[in-house]
Amino acid sequence: MHHFYYRNGELYAESVPVNEIAKAVGTPCYIYSHATLTRHFNIFNDAFSNIPHLICYSVKANSNLAILRLMARMGAGMDIVSGGELFCALKAGVSPDKIVFSGVGKTKEEIEYALKTGILMFNVESEQELEIIHSCAKALKKSAPIAIRVNPDIDPRTHPYISTGLKRDKFGIDINKAEVLYKRAASMPYLHVIGIDCHIGSQLTLLAPFLEAIKQIKDLYNALKKMGIRLNYIDIGGGLGIPYHEESPPHPYEYANAILELAKDMDCCLILEPGRVIVGNAGILLTKMLYFKKIEGKNFIIVDAGMNDLIRPSLYNAYHAIWPCSKRGRPSIVADIVGPICESGDFFARDREIETTYPGELLAIMSSGAYGFSMSSNYNSRPRPAEVLVKGERFWIIRDRESYENLISLNRIPQWLR
Ligand code: LLP
Repeated sequence: MHHFYYRNGELYAESVPVNEIAKAVGTPCYIYSHATLTRHFNIFNDAFSNIPHLICYSVKANSNLAILRLMARMGAGMDIVSGGELFCALKAGVSPDKIVFSGVGKTKEEIEYALKTGILMFNVESEQELEIIHSCAKALKKSAPIAIRVNPDIDPRTHPYISTGLKRDKFGIDINKAEVLYKRAASMPYLHVIGIDCHIGSQLTLLAPFLEAIKQIKDLYNALKKMGIRLNYIDIGGGLGIPYHEESPPHPYEYANAILELAKDMDCCLILEPGRVIVGNAGILLTKMLYFKKIEGKNFIIVDAGMNDLIRPSLYNAYHAIWPCSKRGRPSIVADIVGPICESGDFFARDREIETTYPGELLAIMSSGAYGFSMSSNYNSRPRPAEVLVKGERFWIIRDRESYENLISLNRIPQWLR
């Protein structure tokens, strides 16, 4: 459930007509609902209340500082995958001992930064990474807390670009080879082996793949225990899907109950890394229609947002509902809703039935809170959109619209060209 709804035909974000936001901030802009963000976090967190747990919000889904701050205030830790995300999490006020560091390509500099910061744990993705973490820890005379990310070879039945737990994926270590690596890690003096980590993919709409992964983790946990390696944390990653269209993913309670059933006899703190399920439906991308264009057999609605602002449809053929910001009861048409970018792949919807819209009118691209702004770019030298947070009857700009000056501020023209 979210807080974007119609009142007298006008789209509201909580108690603010989105129209008003467009007038004040311009378009395109992202709008997030505070009530939805807090509701989603609290539901997810409460669902696991029967077991020691830590929700490490996945920063990559939406890394706006105000959103990270809000998560931190509600008690969230963070799942990070880069030095930049660590920096943002710390700036947002997240306690370092609630930060887990995932990712297959951590650099030495990032590892040192995280060691100096004193994060909760590194989710290690390869043998070589383990060696580098150990040597960094040794040089800094610190003990590096680690979990090994295992790859259980499970088909998450999601889009292949966001599947991460199949053998052919680049992520984690073959679960069947994990014991050997755990043994090696446990023998390294500057490592402290504290957990198992696993993340099999994103936008999962079935419980079975999660449960299959946890069963395998449990077997590994028990095998390690027999070997004298006792772990304190089981990190099962993120990945719970949301309804974009016709999907009906399990409710967080259903997800949590099924997991708890399996996890309860492991004497561990459970770590979860949700991203999309917290922020996905808490955000929309507001855009203005620029032009209507008709060719033989096709209608185009051209809007002022582009694939640089929201790349999910172009990249994954992802479905996002598109709502008119004022419902006027006009007849509907079937159209492609496309952006201004010089690529045929720059579309938000294809052959979509939508109420007839005219230039200057506003459309909302729904469910854009996750992997929307965070995957945006300046392609076609387009300044990135503003981000707005709505809370009740008020709203705040939480990221300014970029300016033309911003586009070139880091460029340097060599002396000989001046
Ligand atoms: N933990 C790890 C290690 C991850 O790699 C991810 C997402 C998450 C947690 C959070 O997953 P979530 O709860 O959001 O599903 N750009 C794609 C999604 C990529 C997900 C990458 N990893 C999209 O727009 O659908």
